[in-house]
Formats: sequence, C-alpha cells, structure tokens
Amino acid sequence: MKKSKKRIVILGSTGSIGQNTLEIVRLFPDKFEVVGLSAGKNTGLLAEQIEEFQPVLVAVETEADAQKLRKRFSKSPVKVLSGETGLREVASLSRADLVVSAITGIAGLRPTLAALEKGKDVALANKESMVVAGDFLRKIAARTGARIIPVDSEHSGVFQCLNGQKKKFLRRVYLTASGGPFLKVPIKDLPNKSCGEALQHPRWKMGKKVSIDSATLMNKGLELIEARWLFDLKPDQLDVLIHPQSIVHALVEFKDGSVLAQLSQTDMKIPILYALTYPDRLESPLPSLDLTAVKNLEFYPVEKERYPLFALARRALETGLSFPVVLNAANEVAVEAFLEEKISFGQIYSVVDYCLQSHRAVSINSLEDIFVIDQETRNKARQYLRLKGKQK
Ligand SMILES: NC(=O)c1ccc[n+]([C@@H]2O[C@H](COP(=O)([O-])OP(=O)(O)OC[C@H]3O[C@@H](n4cnc5c(N)ncnc54)[C@H](OP(=O)(O)O)[C@@H]3O)[C@@H](O)[C@H]2O)c1
Repeated sequence: MKKSKKRIVILGSTGSIGQNTLEIVRLFPDKFEVVGLSAGKNTGLLAEQIEEFQPVLVAVETEADAQKLRKRFSKSPVKVLSGETGLREVASLSRADLVVSAITGIAGLRPTLAALEKGKDVALANKESMVVAGDFLRKIAARTGARIIPVDSEHSGVFQCLNGQKKKFLRRVYLTASGGPFLKVPIKDLPNKSCGEALQHPRWKMGKKVSIDSATLMNKGLELIEARWLFDLKPDQLDVLIHPQSIVHALVEFKDGSVLAQLSQTDMKIPILYALTYPDRLESPLPSLDLTAVKNLEFYPVEKERYPLFALARRALETGLSFPVVLNAANEVAVEAFLEEKISFGQIYSVVDYCLQSHRAVSINSLEDIFVIDQETRNKARQYLRLKGKQK
C-alpha cells in the first residue's frame, strides 16, 4: 500500500528555520506536504511560498497584509488569516500531522500551545516557549498525546542520545556552544562591539535575534532552561561546553561514566529532517561528516567574564519560578533595542540584570501569570531604556 505524505504546518516559514524546513520539503516532495504556513511581515516571500507549496491555510501579522494576499490569491483555494487568532488557527489545522514551531520569541508561545492542545506533534525550534512555559507545554502534551520533538541542534542531539536509554541511569547532559563571534576578542573590547560584528556568527547562519543571543551566550542559557523541561532534568544535571568547531552538538553522561555524543555537519537541515521524520530516518543527500577533515575537536569551560548574560540565565535556571519569564522578556526587549542600534552590546546585560535584580521571584500558577509577568517586565525594561537614553 502507498504510504501517504506527512502533512506539515510551518509557523515562521519566512525565517531561517522555516526556509530550511521548506528546503527539506523540496528534497523529499513525495514524503511531505505543506498544508499551512505563517509569516510575520515578509509577505513577499510568503507569497512565493504559497505559489510553490500550495498550502490550504496561511496567516500573517496584520489584516492589511492579509487583504493584499487575498486579492493576489483570489483564484486560489488558499485561505488567508491574520493576527493572533489566525496564527492559532493555522497552528491547530485539523488536517496537519506535525507543526513546526519556528517563530522567534514569546510570540511563538500561543500558537505552540494551540497545536499541542489539538494533539498535534510539534517540531519545536521556538525555544522561548519552553523557557517561559516548559512545565505547561509538557503537561498539555502529556494530556493530549502530542509529542514535542526538538529542532535545536543541541536538543536534537540529547534527544537522539537518550533514545532507548533509561532516565534513572543518566548523570549529566552537556550542550555545546561555538562561543559565537567574540570567543577570542579581548574582554575589554566587548561592551562596544557593533551590531554588524555581533551578527557574524562563525558557524551557523540564523535569524538576527538568535545570532545576537549566540554572541552573548544567552542563547545557551535559554537552551539550558529549554533542556531542563524537554528532558525533565535538574539544573545541576545540565552544563555547557564551548566547542568552537560545532561538530559535537550534545553529550550525555551515564552513571557508569560512559558518554554518548551526537555529531553532525553544522547544518540545521540535519536536525530539522530528524524532527520531521522521527522516529524514522531518511536517506539524505545532505553532506556527510568527514572527521579527518575536521581534525581537531576542542572543548573549553565557559569564561564567566566573557559571557555575563550566561551567568544570569544560569541563575534563572536554578531559581526557577518566575525568573525565566523575566529573563526572556528583558532579553527580548534588550536585543531588539541593540538591533535597532539604540543601545550598546554591553547594555544588553545591564537591561537584563536590572530586570532580574528588581524582580521578586513568584510561583507561576497559570499561563495567564506568564503573560502578565512577561508584559510587566517588558514595560520595566523599556522604562529603564528610556531613562538611560535621557541620561546620555
Ligand atoms: N536559525 C537557527 O539556526 C535556529 C537554531 C535553533 C533554534 N532556533 C530558534 O528558532 C526560532 C526561529 O529562529 P530563526 O532563526 O528562524 O528566526 P528568524 O529568521 O528571525 O525567523 C522568525 C520567523 O518568525 C516570524 N515572526 C517573528 N515575529 C513574529 C510575530 N510577532 N508574529 C508572527 N510571526 C513572527 C518571522 O516572520 P517575518 O520574517 O515574515 O516577519 C519569521 O518567519 C527562534 O526561537 C530561535 O531561537 C533557530
């Protein structure tokens, strides 16, 4: 009997992960069918994607953009929605088998929740959702039977190493970090590094927000919190190693001292492909790993003075409660201000530190608590930035 195609929805299809996912669909047209797409503002690219992949449902941020697309595709069966409601509708499309969650920031949380509530398997790239609401997402998935399959290369690595292993034998998990573009820069020069320099990631080509988070190493801090929830680990079971070659993505140490590692070429299409096919694997035309060409695999501890934001993230991981929500919201506001060249690289730390210092950790009892604390923190961070702007 002919096997049917896996029907996928891609939230954030115009972004780096979204476009890489569509590359996989191009490579395996007989395996996957795109049924839903969502974009923010890049309606030009979304229109090209609609023409090529013929989804039944798409969503964009504004109603004005949705109207333009409806006009353009008036002869096509595609339905165009807008705003948060539209996004949620695409995320919970009944005919979808898998939803790729690849929107940046907390904007990805509500659609990810909607997909899990509908019992859809989620290939999760949007780490911010797990950081702020990991416990809720896990419980919803357990209730509805949905699976959360990691897309982040490090988490995909851990996921693969843990496959078939008993959790009680696990000792520790290491995520690797390339160290970003400032691994070798003198620490005294870091506060004034420009946006252009911070966006030059040495190994991965990614969206702007995650690239800046990689330069500060906040990205790895967020990933530790993501891993804490994805794999149900204690904070002291999680660690990070600087590994400039980005070939080993994760290592899992067991109680008997044995360590399993996951290695691959530095190409996000590899973990995306695994998330799309899990638990199966497809014969892939993506490049194989040649370790004789790589030659050296180096590992270093994280330098605290070089990456002060990582220490804040570690503290949020250990404190738990509302701290990860504050960490994430303050960081999103600070990175946006840095990308708009309103603050220096060094001030990203000041904003996040200020918001955490002035917050008294409280327990999170509902999803609504998360949105309230997120909004309060954003207001506080913006107020701090306005005050600092006036003091200049
Ligand atoms: N890139 C990587 O290699 C990588 C690796 C691991 C994990 N991740 C994670 O994956 C997520 C996506 O990263 P990315 O690098 O693909 O980001 P990106 O290139 O900036 O793309 C983000 C996508 O989300 C959409 N979007 C942003 N804000 C939105 C909003 N408020 N409402 C609706 N749509 C919105 C964007 O739409 P428009 O562009 O149309 O506005 C775009 O499609 C992040 O959480 C990141 O940490 C990325």
